[in-house]
This record gives sequence, C-alpha cells and structure tokens, in this order.
Amino acid sequence: MPKFKTIIEPFRIHSTQSLNFPDPERREAALKEAGFNLFGLHADDVIIDLLTDSGTGAMSNRQWAGIMMGDESYAGSRSFYRFLEVVTDLTGMSEVIPTHQGRAAEWILFSSIGGPGKAILNNTHFDTTRANVEFSGAEAVDLVIPEGRDPSSEHPFKGNMDVDALDRYLTEHGRERVPLVMVTVTNNSGGGQPVSLDNLRKVRAVCDKHRVPLFLDACRFAENAYFIKTREEGQNGRSPREIAREMFRLVDGCTMSAKKDAMANIGGFLAMKDSELARRCRNLLILTEGFSTYGGMAGYDLEAVATGLEEVLEESYLRYRIRSTAYLAEKILAAGVPIVRPAGGHAVYIDAKSFLPHIPADQYPAQSLAIELYRAGGVRGVEIGSVMFGKRLKDGTETPSTMELVRLAIPRRTYTQSHIDYTAEVIADVASRAKELRGYKIVSQEPWLRHFTARFEPI
Ligand code: F0G
Repeated sequence: MPKFKTIIEPFRIHSTQSLNFPDPERREAALKEAGFNLFGLHADDVIIDLLTDSGTGAMSNRQWAGIMMGDESYAGSRSFYRFLEVVTDLTGMSEVIPTHQGRAAEWILFSSIGGPGKAILNNTHFDTTRANVEFSGAEAVDLVIPEGRDPSSEHPFKGNMDVDALDRYLTEHGRERVPLVMVTVTNNSGGGQPVSLDNLRKVRAVCDKHRVPLFLDACRFAENAYFIKTREEGQNGRSPREIAREMFRLVDGCTMSAKKDAMANIGGFLAMKDSELARRCRNLLILTEGFSTYGGMAGYDLEAVATGLEEVLEESYLRYRIRSTAYLAEKILAAGVPIVRPAGGHAVYIDAKSFLPHIPADQYPAQSLAIELYRAGGVRGVEIGSVMFGKRLKDGTETPSTMELVRLAIPRRTYTQSHIDYTAEVIADVASRAKELRGYKIVSQEPWLRHFTARFEPI
C-alpha cells in the first residue's frame, strides 16, 4: 500500500465516450416528452447518468480481449466451460445455468418453486425479484432488521435479515408455504446495505432447522464481501475472494445479474446444488432463454462475465469502489441533504421523505426530487419509493412504501471524481430551493413494474 491517503482509481483510461450537454430548455422539453419519467429520456439528453449501476460499467482491456476470444458454438462452447470454471470456483455450486440477465434467472427459479399459496422470504426483494415472485402467484415477504428501514440508523450491516422474525414466520407457516429463503447482497432496495457473515450463518441455521433452502440474490456479492472485510470483527485479515467464497458456501443456490458485480454489460446466471431442481430449471431455460451452455448470452458475453468475476474481487478495485461511493455521500451530507446512512456500496440514496416533508407520499416526493436533479443539472437518478413499491388497493388508494428514496447509482469504473463533484453541486443547488419542489400525480400506468413506463404530471 502507498503511504499517501488519496485512494486513486486502480486503472487508467484507455478509451473514452463523449458526453452531451443538453441546455435547460432541451431538458425541460425532454421531461415533458418522457411524461416526467426519467426512464423515458433519451440517454443523449442526460449529462451524468446515475440511473443504475447495472450493465453501465466500463469493461477492462482484459474483458474486451476476452470478447475476441468468444467461442460461438451453439452447444458446449469453450467460453461456456471457462465461465463454468470461474462460477464453480467462486460459488462451489455444481449446477450453473447461464441466463441473459438476473431477472431471467429469477423467472426460471420462481416459475419452478413459486406459485399460489407459497411465500418467498427475503431481507428485501428488489423490484424485479418481487414482481417475478408475485407473477408466479406467490407472496414476497421482506424481513430486514428494523434498522434497515430507518435511513438515519448507522448500523454497519443494515441489510441483515431479522433472524427472529424469520424463525417465527417459518415456525408458523412451515416449509409447505415457504419453498425458499433469499438474502439479497447488498440490499439494493434498502440502501445498498451489506449483510454480515454472522447474519448469513444465523439465517443458515434457521433455514436448516426448518429444512428450507437458502439462496443468495448475489448481484453485488463483491461489494458485500468488502464491507464484511472492513466492518466485521475478525474479517480484516481475509481477502475479499475468501470472504465471497464463504458467503456462497453458506447457501444452496443463487441468482446473479452479471451486469453488476461481474462487470459485464449483459448476462447473469442461476446456480445451485440441487440437481433435481436444476433439471427443471434447465427445461424452462431451453424454452425461453436458449440452450444450457449459453442461455441467452453470446459466447463472448460468457468470456466478459468470467473475467469480470475475477477482476471484481481485486482489493484495489473494491477499495476504490467503496471509497468513491462514500465520497459522494460525504459531499451530499455536507450540502445538508439527508441520505440513507451509511453510504451503500454501489449507490447513495437520498432520503426524500425527510428532505421534502411538505410533499406527501401519494404525491411521490422522491419522484419529484429525481425530476428536479435532472432539470437542474442533467443528473439522472431513480426513484425507489412509492412509485416503485407503493401497493395499489382496490378503492384506488395506495399503501406507501416504507422509504421514499432517490438512488444515485454509480456505474463501475466509468465516472471520475470531477463528475461526482459536479453531481454534488447540482444536488446542493436543488437543496437550496427544496421548499419550492411540488408533488406529482400518475396519469397512466401498467399493472407490473409500473415505474418503468408510468407517465406523470406535476400537481
Ligand atoms: N436483484 C437485484 C438486487 C437487483 O438489483 C437487480 C437489478 C436484479 C436482481 C435483476 O437483475 O437487471 O440483470 O435482470 N437491478 C438493477 C438496478 C436493474 O438498477 O438496481 P437484472
């Protein structure tokens, strides 16, 4: 380790992509065209795009070189075997099913084990996970610890599962109702917060007691492993790779979006130990994704994912990654804007409920804030609040989400410190006139995952 305190990017830039600078009039017009839904914007109308860290990162020269090595054989390609070797070494799981992204793995898994009368328990389901559980007819139950629902709590592992609540639920309902327990690392809907190894072990013990399988939603497993290394007692001497391998060895299977901690632009997988369940899953895979040795990915994608899974566990990368998210969080806090504390691994989440107390949940304060960040400086974040998770009741009213957040997700290896400084300036500008922000209403929406396509109007 160098003796200087500045943590630098552990890479230099080898190829660039130019940014557009739409002026305020263009941004206003773009908002109207998109129905005030930031998913509806043309990306060329965005200056700093923090909509998601999913598939938006920069690949390394080794990954691009791997792309040229892709073997596009329909069945049994060399690239599949390389991918298989890396995933098996990391997870210890014998059954590895490639999918085109995480939600395809979710759909296959929940179609195989979900269904009416069932319930899937998770620390917090992410949007597509919840939707795939519910689409199968099952119920999606969130059992995160109470601190995980409190933006101001400084608990080091706010993604932890409430082990007592889990035990109570399983005692009451049993394995007939609960075919699977999942733990999402890091907990995306709850602020990108990590889960401790200790908590994972306890969840494992409860699942063993009730004979229910345990899976990881592993999208951000490497960031989670680094938080364990730096925050959990007794873990500091271990490498992120050792910790990640232990995390996977505590569970029976996982779903993975390779668009996050596999540093690829597309891809995913479903892995497990149970060969009988894997057989049923492969059958669905062939029906919807593709043959079992590519499952919706090209051979070159399999190469990029395999290399990404190796690179993401490098300690210099994770140190820089976690530090750069914390850097943005510090700047936002310095501007007096409340966030979910501590900073998450892949994103900073602004707490719009405390920031805009004058906008009620049914007027979507976090949507209003996300729109204003775009309007003010072309910064695109995403609402994670009642637009995404509000439950619609039959009488037309809605149960609000527990938290109203704007997530600023940082694409991997993509933006520099000055991009982040600019973003912080935009946030400070909006903060100076927070009282002027107004709520929004939804004028059209779909029954599933409405946040992607809903249209809004200012109130
Ligand atoms: N699970 C979690 C925790 C996720 O964050 C995501 C995606 C998925 C599953 C689904 O993976 O997109 O490859 O189908 N999250 C992205 C986001 C979209 O912006 O957080 P996918």
